[in-house]
Amino acid sequence: MKDIKDLSAAEAAAELERIAAEMSKADIAYYQKDNPYLTDSQYDELKRRNEEIEKRFPRLIRSDSPSQKIGAPVLSAFKKVPHRFPMLSLGDVFSIDEVEDFVMSVKRFLNTSENIVFMAEPKIDGLSFSARYENGIFVLGATRGDGITGEDITENLKTIKEFPQRLNGIFPDVLEVRGEVYMKKSDFFALNKKYEAEGKKNFANPRNAAAGSLRQLDPKITAERNLSIFAYTWGEVSERVWNSQADFFNHLREWGFPTNPLNNLCADIREIENNFQHLMETRAALDYDIDGVVYKVNDIALQERLGFLTRTPRWAVAHKFPAEQAVTAINNIRIQVGRTGALTPVADLEPVNVGGVIVSHATLHNEDEIKRKDIRIGDSVIIQRAGDVIPQVVRVLTDKRPADSKEFIFPDKCPVCGAHAIREEDEAVRRCTGGLSCPAQAKERIIHFVSREGFDIAGLGSSIIEDFYNEGILHNPADIFTLEERNDGSLFAHQKSSVLHLEQREGWGKKSVENLFKAINAKRTISMPRFIYALGIRQVGTATARLLAKHYGRFEKFMTEMKNKETGPLVTIDGIGPSMATDIVEFFQEEHNLNIIERLLKEVRVEEFIDDSAADSPLSGKTVVFTGTLQNLTRSEAKAAALKLGAKVAGSVSAKTDFVIIGADAGSKAAKARELGINILSEEDFLSMM
Ligand code: IVH
Repeated sequence: MKDIKDLSAAEAAAELERIAAEMSKADIAYYQKDNPYLTDSQYDELKRRNEEIEKRFPRLIRSDSPSQKIGAPVLSAFKKVPHRFPMLSLGDVFSIDEVEDFVMSVKRFLNTSENIVFMAEPKIDGLSFSARYENGIFVLGATRGDGITGEDITENLKTIKEFPQRLNGIFPDVLEVRGEVYMKKSDFFALNKKYEAEGKKNFANPRNAAAGSLRQLDPKITAERNLSIFAYTWGEVSERVWNSQADFFNHLREWGFPTNPLNNLCADIREIENNFQHLMETRAALDYDIDGVVYKVNDIALQERLGFLTRTPRWAVAHKFPAEQAVTAINNIRIQVGRTGALTPVADLEPVNVGGVIVSHATLHNEDEIKRKDIRIGDSVIIQRAGDVIPQVVRVLTDKRPADSKEFIFPDKCPVCGAHAIREEDEAVRRCTGGLSCPAQAKERIIHFVSREGFDIAGLGSSIIEDFYNEGILHNPADIFTLEERNDGSLFAHQKSSVLHLEQREGWGKKSVENLFKAINAKRTISMPRFIYALGIRQVGTATARLLAKHYGRFEKFMTEMKNKETGPLVTIDGIGPSMATDIVEFFQEEHNLNIIERLLKEVRVEEFIDDSAADSPLSGKTVVFTGTLQNLTRSEAKAAALKLGAKVAGSVSAKTDFVIIGADAGSKAAKARELGINILSEEDFLSMM
């Protein structure tokens, strides 16, 4: 990668665009699908490079830049909760030098040489919540969402044992407590074990398990999972009766909230450093994941003087732990074939303990990565596990390389079915061309079909699918819905040999087979976004599936248009680009895909998509124009919020405009709106609509 100081403006712009796209994809995977594919350190590295390029080329800052966003976009099925005070995020630093810079900047801002005391709090790796109490009674719970609007999780929070529904002691009339919901490592392992026994897909890490458990439309599911909380800050309060963060923690405990026992006041940078070292050394033994330490100016009066930058407080910072690393050997390099035929190299490692977790595999990403890092079988390597996701190889210790080691030759044939594996010009991955005749792809397609965001069929885990496929019981997703009739001998009296008798399988019984059929039959009616997602079209995740459902309303309409080979209408959908459009249309040109869909539609009913998210909004169906500088939102956040409210956003004012939303220093557009007698909204009006 080029040094930032050597980048031309054009190169910088291209790179900022690439990073924005990459991080937005990663955000969706992380926040909406609870299924991250970048490690924390890869993510941080992208964020940091983005920041540095922006520092050199401030003119090139994009409205969709990761530096302009706070967090996760809001999922639409939950009721929305606007935050009276935005739920902000924290700036990250990665070394003690940077912490010192932060302390200096605090002092400089306050124009003081006096010592400042900081509260050092372990940074809990969960997801933040807000809980509003009126007269000591819990009335409203929300996730952070995008920081401006969260999701209503009132009922879900109530199911958490440690969560106080009524405050003890003396409390302000209105009090919004904020903190982190997390899953203990022990509860996470137990949950995954249970899931494995039930044949369900495991959660990747405690954070994803916590997110997946909390953001359940059915709070009964939240109640079944053990979640925990730590409280650490506040939002709206009618009267603040604490003067320091330490004092606030005392109140939190009095009111009945769990606070982290490792929160620790630090008098100077030496104590900050010791505290950090100590937590880094002991974190593996904690029963919850932490990914750094948060430092907050302890004195609230000073916090108030320091105030906020656009998206982060000036009085706090997050000091992130470096990724955990270890040295081990590569025993073998294997190629895995995924649902879309992608060949992914995986290293089998000599098992090694990395920060309390035994690691025996690492992803090698793709063939270029192997070449770039010159990774060979037998090499000693440094591997790294960044809190979650799949471990990766950082670099090879070439001085330890065996003399006879050979370069790894990436196969040009699929190791599973033998078909040619080709690499498109602009792609990093090589793909098997075998399609569904490749057993690996066919199996992965079925696994994806029943996955949590797809048909979500409990009891059909990947090992069962693997067995059923190998035994010819399941060839494709449509076969799932004929399992019951094929299992029932009476339907095939003349064809006794083909009766499945699943109840006679080892480890199975009448009850488990009944349960499986029950789980399958429960999914004979399915929502349109889930159905589209489950088909496994390349690049189409849950967010895109939803966009398509919203645009077309009925699956049959969508399919008819797709069969006509037109990518044109697809790219008019905000959020779908040309490459995705091509993948979608190509999917519907394949005869075997159409056959499977046709068979599926005989077995399941795909519901019409009714988007009720914006139905009762005053902006629904209206055309709005933004002008001037908004104080609380970036332009792209405002635009996204307006779209969510069902509005169309236009660039210029005309007779067709319904509303003009005016920020500071609005110019000619505001004047034109007044001239045309168009409704004018202030930023506040708009925020209250949100
Ligand atoms: S304070 C304005 N304290 O880190 C400050 N956040 O990067 C608001 N987090 O969204 C946050 N432990 O989810 C704070 N002790 C702690 C925390 C903490 C974990 C998370 C939280 C927040 C994110 C910010």
